[in-house]
Amino acid sequence: MNIYLVGFMGTGKSSVGRQLAKDKCWNFVDLDELIELKEQRRIVEIFAKDGEAYFRKIEKKILKQVSSQKGFVVACGGGIVLDKANIALMKKSGMMFCLSATAGEILKRVSSSSDRPLLNVENPRKRIDLLLKMRAPYYMQADKVVDTTGLSVRQVAGKISRAACAGR
Ligand code: S3P
Repeated sequence: MNIYLVGFMGTGKSSVGRQLAKDKCWNFVDLDELIELKEQRRIVEIFAKDGEAYFRKIEKKILKQVSSQKGFVVACGGGIVLDKANIALMKKSGMMFCLSATAGEILKRVSSSSDRPLLNVENPRKRIDLLLKMRAPYYMQADKVVDTTGLSVRQVAGKISRAACAGR
């Protein structure tokens, strides 16, 4: 099986995923990194040149490839849950954990970079609030939602590791 980490941008999926893979001696993969590698360009460029729909197509394809492997901790892009076939695939091939954080915390974590095309807007806080509201029903479909507020990367990884063992 695999462990899929989903959740909004800036909730720590990549850092937690790396730690979790280390703790469990599993492989780690970051879907956004794989997409950039495959496309040989940054995600911002993909969005700017070919649009979000094209990005989602590639994201779905890469998820399919990764889900055919076993023993991976997979950090997913924040929008992966928007396609219900992606959710079904993650659940079929592993467990899906959603990391959550408050809008204020997310804003703090993402404001140091401009790599996220969906938040490169005049009022990112407003956009975060809107997207969080729209996406809540999708994120809630995870096997478990882990609130990361006030927790270190190690603590979040530990919580997921224990829940994954219990849920097997
Ligand atoms: C997106 C999240 C990003 C990346 C893309 C779209 C989203 O990944 O896949 O910019 O729709 O929430 P992170 O969640 O790793 O930032």
